Amino acid sequence: MTGAKGFVRMIDLPRVSDPRGDLTFVEGGNHIPFDIARVYYLYNVPVDAERGGHAHRELEQIVFPLSGSFRMKVNDGETKSEYWLRDPCKGLYISKLVWREMDSFSQGAVCMVLASRPYEEADYFRNYNKFLTAVRKKS
Ligand code: TYD
Repeated sequence: MTGAKGFVRMIDLPRVSDPRGDLTFVEGGNHIPFDIARVYYLYNVPVDAERGGHAHRELEQIVFPLSGSFRMKVNDGETKSEYWLRDPCKGLYISKLVWREMDSFSQGAVCMVLASRPYEEADYFRNYNKFLTAVRKKS
């Protein structure tokens, strides 16, 4: 699975719509390119908050805007791009070694993340220069 940017791509989930509303589902082993080890979600996010500001050594994630919208800025150390997430059935896959920043949350936005590994602080790069050094060593 590759996308235009390689290190990120949109993942489309099914949407079942009828007059009672919309339903979207996620099946491990079908829609998600890794085994889901963790689910977490962000909520009660102030509209002027900035989240993220880190990259991961091994973790892969898919970020879904379950409600409302927000911006994700991503950067693999060479290429930067940004995505406005606002459709609950479209998630952004983010590979390892991608610096990400999130902002412009709408009032009441809810962000759900599917993750390939449990929470491990040792997997984080929280310093941008250390992230860049690690990326350049790999290429
Ligand atoms: P962090 O990943 O920095 O949040 P964000 O990228 O959304 O800004 O995590 C914020 C805090 O929450 C940090 O102290 C670690 C903790 N945390 C967990 O304990 N478990 C988790 O699964 C996650 C994602 C974070």
